[in-house]
Amino acid sequence: MIGSHVWVEDPDDAWLDGEVIEINGEEIKVKCTAKTVVAKTSSSYPKDPEFPECGVDDMTKLAYLHEPGVLQNLKCRYDANEIYVMQKYKGAALGELSPHPFAVADSAYRQMINEGISQAILVSGESGAGKTESTKMLMRYLAYMGGRVSNAEERSVEQKVLESNPVLEAFGNAKTVRNNNSSRFGKFVEIQFDQRGRISGAAIRTYLLERSRVCQVSDPERNYHCFYMLCSARKEDVEKYKLGNPRTFHYLNQSNCIELDALNDSEEYIATRRAMDVVGISEEEQDAIFRVVAAILHLGNVEFSKGQETDASEPKNDKSRFHLKTAAELFICEWKTSNMPLLFRCDEKSLEESLCKRVFVTRDETITKALDPNAAALSRDALAKIVYSKLFDWLVEKINVAIGQDKESKFLIGVLDIYGFESFKTNRCLTGCHLPACL
Ligand SMILES: Nc1ncnc2c1ncn2[C@@H]1O[C@H](COP(=O)(O)OP(=O)(O)OP(=O)(O)O)[C@@H](O)[C@H]1O
Ligand SMILES: [Mg+2]
Repeated sequence: MIGSHVWVEDPDDAWLDGEVIEINGEEIKVKCTAKTVVAKTSSSYPKDPEFPECGVDDMTKLAYLHEPGVLQNLKCRYDANEIYVMQKYKGAALGELSPHPFAVADSAYRQMINEGISQAILVSGESGAGKTESTKMLMRYLAYMGGRVSNAEERSVEQKVLESNPVLEAFGNAKTVRNNNSSRFGKFVEIQFDQRGRISGAAIRTYLLERSRVCQVSDPERNYHCFYMLCSARKEDVEKYKLGNPRTFHYLNQSNCIELDALNDSEEYIATRRAMDVVGISEEEQDAIFRVVAAILHLGNVEFSKGQETDASEPKNDKSRFHLKTAAELFICEWKTSNMPLLFRCDEKSLEESLCKRVFVTRDETITKALDPNAAALSRDALAKIVYSKLFDWLVEKINVAIGQDKESKFLIGVLDIYGFESFKTNRCLTGCHLPACL
């Protein structure tokens, strides 16, 4: 209708708003502030003439829930620069104040105290929607409500839970098309409380780590952050683990995306090591962890060619032999005080045999079959995936031991940061459909 206000798409500014001044069949002429544009009626959206100047605090209050409307509201809220403080939400009824994770956490905490029933909060949404960041806010609020006064030397349970995030994200997050810090695993954080509503313990349970990413990455995504961090580590560490430019490693160079604008890998390496200190992972254990990470990179560079026997394989050249030898050396880790079950003793020869041969055990005998180069490369990738996922499980276990669980706790609040999913125009995919991709 002539005179009505609409949004039209613009190649520079995404969306422009203006008044319809002419209608020609399927096309409309719209007078915007800086220019007059012609657009298709089907790709224009109505604009709410009564949209409040500072936006609305709840998107469901928008008169029109379409992309330009949501973006306009986000811009207004961002410009308003409103700071949300936890104190304000304490005791406020749900819906009384602007929607925020603090409001949900407060409601869960109060219901737990008043009704004596454990609570669970499910954080759901598309990849990049902000689930992990919201989960951190929920945990911060629960720590604020149920935290104990701790002495300066000993860190409290809630501090340890919050500080474990950078460690988990270094090993379980990666850059994807939608999110530079996408969680590639599901996480259920259980905060345990005593009778008086004070935090007495916590446990982190993770599931479905996307293993395939370890050896398969496509443009414009990246492998797990820890690989790039280690390649950009301090010089002595890079030399110790015989690393270098990430572009020289097969598990990283399948994608052209190596550096990220907003992420400094060498700073992240330092921050991750610091977070590991705080969580209670010793220097020795940290070294073992990064040896495994480096060994996986070297393993990925082992290529195979045809061996002497039929259908057999062997490392392709001196370069492959070097990486095989280095991987074997890095995998050997043993120390007196700790017992790290994921690490194993291995030497170059036995590593080569385990990749180039398959052993079948029958009731009466053991048969060894040689593998062709393609099958050997698949064995190599399978080993990389299993070692990485065991490393991740070990890290989670270690963090849990450091945090400490309260087996006698009266109630708990669980926060589920669900595995992110992508919403496609066609082939809509539910979280469960990711299962095969993670195996
Ligand atoms: N409350 C927030 N304040 C500022 N930035 C945020 C907030 N929430 C999310 N972001 C931004 O969006 C990015 C994606 O958020 P987040 O990692 O929480 O998404 P996600 O839903 O967990 O995605 P995935 O399913 O891929 O893990 C963050 O790295 C951050 O840049
Ligand atoms: Mg996430």
